[in-house]
Amino acid sequence: MGKLNSIPLLCSIAIAILLSTPIAHCKIAQGPKAVENWFQKLNHAKPKMTKLHFYFHDIVSGRNPTSIRVAQANSTSHSPTGFGLLAMLDDRLTTGPEINSTTIGRTQGIVGTASLEEFSLLMSLNFVFTKGKFSGSTLSLLGRNTVLNEYREMPIVGGSGVFRLARGIATAKTHTLSNNGNAVVEYHVVVIHY
Ligand SMILES: *[C@@H]1O[C@H](CO)[C@@H](O)[C@H](O)[C@H]1NC(C)=O
Ligand SMILES: *[C@@H]1O[C@H](CO)[C@@H](O)[C@H](O)[C@H]1NC(C)=O
Repeated sequence: MGKLNSIPLLCSIAIAILLSTPIAHCKIAQGPKAVENWFQKLNHAKPKMTKLHFYFHDIVSGRNPTSIRVAQANSTSHSPTGFGLLAMLDDRLTTGPEINSTTIGRTQGIVGTASLEEFSLLMSLNFVFTKGKFSGSTLSLLGRNTVLNEYREMPIVGGSGVFRLARGIATAKTHTLSNNGNAVVEYHVVVIHY
């Protein structure tokens, strides 16, 4: 038990010391045995809360879109809510809203217009962290995004790496929406994990 407690503690110290170094992160053991060991020690693990704040850049137009339409129904173009469209995205995640802001990962997934009555999306996304202390870990979001509302609350249903068994809530807010459809969306995420 002493050993188990000391590992996360050392990690937090390392993170605190190296917070300013973007590549600092805790390596988590990979592989089926490591995952099994992790589960066996779970009884002694304390849940902790982590807050994340980032922006994602949804680029739908121009030469290098990161979000592309992959399918739609014949009726989609006649639908007042654009019902029946699917898009695949691999959007940059950054620390700030500016286009040249530091990249910390990607948002990869599929989004669909899922409401006949209002403009609302089914979001099925993975936040893939590639920099900072969560590098190599992911969080999975599955939720409903009522895009025209100021705040959209969506469940975080799981994760990998340091976010194994994570659950939480993501709150999205549109930061900017350009005429060409490109959007910068601000995300606040709070997760419980171990
Ligand atoms: C959709 O539109 C295409 C082209 O007009 C047509 O060939 C096809 O039968 C339509 N599909 C359905 C399900 O209505
Ligand atoms: C980002 O671009 C803006 C305007 O082009 C510039 O003022 C700023 O210094 C840049 N920031 C970084 C971190 O490069």
